[in-house]
Amino acid sequence: MAKINSNYLLLPNSYLFAEIAKKIKAYQKANPKADIIKMGIGDVTHPLTNSIVTAMEKAAKEMAESSTFRGYGPEQGYDFLVNAVINGEYKSRNIDIAPDEIFISDGSKCDIANIQEIFDINSTVAITDPVYPVYLDSNIMAGRSGRLNDKGYFEKIIYMSSTKENNFKPSFPAKHADLIYICSPNNPTGAALTKAELKSWVEYALENKSIILYDSAYSAYIQEEDVCGSIYEIPDAKKVAVEFKSFSKTAGFTGIRCAFTVVPKELYAFDDMGNKVALNKLWNRRQTTKFNGVSYITQRAAEAVYSEQGMKETKEVIKYYMNNAAIILCGLKQAGFEAYGGVNAPYIWWKIPDGIKSFDFLDILLEKYQIVGTPGSGFGPCGEGYFRLTAFNSQEKTKEAMQKIYKAASN
Ligand code: MLT
Repeated sequence: MAKINSNYLLLPNSYLFAEIAKKIKAYQKANPKADIIKMGIGDVTHPLTNSIVTAMEKAAKEMAESSTFRGYGPEQGYDFLVNAVINGEYKSRNIDIAPDEIFISDGSKCDIANIQEIFDINSTVAITDPVYPVYLDSNIMAGRSGRLNDKGYFEKIIYMSSTKENNFKPSFPAKHADLIYICSPNNPTGAALTKAELKSWVEYALENKSIILYDSAYSAYIQEEDVCGSIYEIPDAKKVAVEFKSFSKTAGFTGIRCAFTVVPKELYAFDDMGNKVALNKLWNRRQTTKFNGVSYITQRAAEAVYSEQGMKETKEVIKYYMNNAAIILCGLKQAGFEAYGGVNAPYIWWKIPDGIKSFDFLDILLEKYQIVGTPGSGFGPCGEGYFRLTAFNSQEKTKEAMQKIYKAASN
């Protein structure tokens, strides 16, 4: 008799964004004429830029010629992209990263969900509350969570509350955590750790022999000087942190799929006998077994992001989205609401009126105003009372949404 992995039964019924997509689909079906303004899932809307498309066309043509056709590529990524990443992301920040510390992949979501499997099943895990659900769900699936209590918390997970009182920047875990997930700039709150704050996390991890799983998917949106574009800007971070970066939000690759994970060679965890084991070696072993690399065409597209013209185009698109973020932040404040984030991230964390549950607020916004956002409680109990809006729609639609909200709040 085949038995299931019963940890799956501990999961919420559906993945947050799948649940919201289902709701939108049902509403659209019942109201085919409704022009829904989507500010829910953090999905980009701006088309790929010229440099990227030109690189893809060229690569596609190479695939059509027997002399330049390519089959399987290296599981860790082609050298041309690995080198472009080193130059574009790390040398430019005076950080030394070796080519074999970079692992090109098809997305940070997959990497950050998969990374937990190279750690002991009894590792203790700390996450922020609210949190990008993948960190939690992947550890539930693996069997590290324990049961859900009636307050909405899993008994073995260490939660670090991110609230208005701490500017959505949590304090260190209340008890020892082997693995600490940090996302900065943060999804969903939009808060970004300053260099000094990030330094204190690295020092904490060094002292406590913890490993930081650092989700840096939104680093391209950083506008403020004292926020790091990479955790490795902090001395000794290579001894404690894995960094995840993605082309999804940086260059519009949510549908193309390309990202990379940095596992420094000086990063160690321990075996049952207390011997040090390099995580780079384990992640390489995992990837070569379970992953066959990203398509050649996609990697050429990602390489083009770091060309001079590519960087210029990408910056323009980000500027466009961040202008939307400013419109949302300002619009919500003018309508009399508290709102956070939106300065170093494409997410705005909106304090909704007291007494309304954030999932009910989703229904109200959709049904009355045809606007979609993401209920804060979907990211964790501390998200209750908040609602996340994204800056990824067009400027026209973003303004329209803010006008509707302003009008509704003034009535
Ligand atoms: C989000 O909306 O939180 C993200 O788009 C989801 C993701 O990147 O997987």
